[in-house]
Amino acid sequence: MTAAKRAHSILFAAVASLSVAGLAVAGAAWADPSGEQSAFTPPSGAEIPKGGFGEMVALGRDIFTDTSKHAGAFVGNDLNCSNCHLDKGRLAGAAPLWAAYVAYPAFRKKNQRVNTFEERLQGCFRYSMNGKAPPLGDTTLIALQAYAYWLAKGAPTGVDMNGRGYPAPKKPERLDLARGGEIYAQKCALCHGADGAGLKAADGSVAFPPLWGPRSYNWGAGMSVITNAAGFIKANMPLGLGGTLSDEDAWNVAAFVDSHERPQDPRFEGSVAETRKAHHDNPLDLYGTEIGGVTLGENSPPSGPQPK
Ligand code: HEC
Ligand code: HEC
Repeated sequence: MTAAKRAHSILFAAVASLSVAGLAVAGAAWADPSGEQSAFTPPSGAEIPKGGFGEMVALGRDIFTDTSKHAGAFVGNDLNCSNCHLDKGRLAGAAPLWAAYVAYPAFRKKNQRVNTFEERLQGCFRYSMNGKAPPLGDTTLIALQAYAYWLAKGAPTGVDMNGRGYPAPKKPERLDLARGGEIYAQKCALCHGADGAGLKAADGSVAFPPLWGPRSYNWGAGMSVITNAAGFIKANMPLGLGGTLSDEDAWNVAAFVDSHERPQDPRFEGSVAETRKAHHDNPLDLYGTEIGGVTLGENSPPSGPQPK
């Protein structure tokens, strides 16, 4: 073993025990959105190799950051994967792809079976992108998988890595939508719009992505569960000021965002109450609950790409 390799494996062991310690305090806020404490640094973009494999990795990166342009057939809203998985899927605390890649195949409660990584990616298109799943084996999935695999270079498989997912901040006793609305007006509306629809540049491109309404993630998406939104927001929003909201404010503003209409859950079969029972039976999921006299889901725009 070379000295460099030995140093690396010692570092790795130290970091591995760190992440076990991290698990013991699960529920504590993610203190380091910069990822400095993270167990893992993915390779830099400049290291993408030449040749057939590298070309597929680069395509995956492009799909991830400009999804409508490179995988438009499967997208039904104004989002890119990288709007929620920041820094091109590299940032710890923003569900980084390197931590995801090594965690599959995995059993998912969402569909009650073991999912491959490719199947996990299909779900992102169906729900977060309000689109439709690319068929297994489609170049879109191969490219995204190649990109995630490449980012995970040197990471251990089967380990819940430090920085995975959106670590949830400490939940307050009760959520306060009115307070969430105040935070939103003060700290979010500037970029995401008072109506949550985001902002477009003069050329029609999306400058700030929508948080609710017909062009955002649908009711089946992970971000529509307040726990996920609170974790994402606490670590990453307002953009560039991650970690500045109190835990309580992060939860309240997350609840406020997820108390608005968005495209229907694609699993909807005609009854909001039935859909809630089957897929949203969670106090931190407002689908099918009554907010301001209106039941969320009753007036949802349809899910999936809509004819222009
Ligand atoms: C609206 C925000 C949003 C968008 C857009 C989005 N995701 Fe996600 N993604 C999430 C959330 C939230 C989770 C965690 C969901 C959960 O645990 O249920 C997640 C989870 C994942 C995971 C699993 C992470 C893990 O550690 O297990 C992968 C992989 C992933 N997304 C890839 C993608 C890809 C590829 C796209 C684009 C096609 C995409 N996502 C678009 C919010 C988003
Ligand atoms: C300075 C502008 C700015 C502010 C202020 C801001 N955001 Fe964002 N937000 C962004 C941008 C840009 C992205 C996409 C990030 C990317 O692609 O790298 C984003 C992404 C998001 C997303 C995931 C993508 C989506 O559309 O669903 C959520 C949720 C979100 N912001 C919530 C908030 C909340 C809540 C606040 C207030 C606490 C907030 N943001 C404040 C610019 C901002």
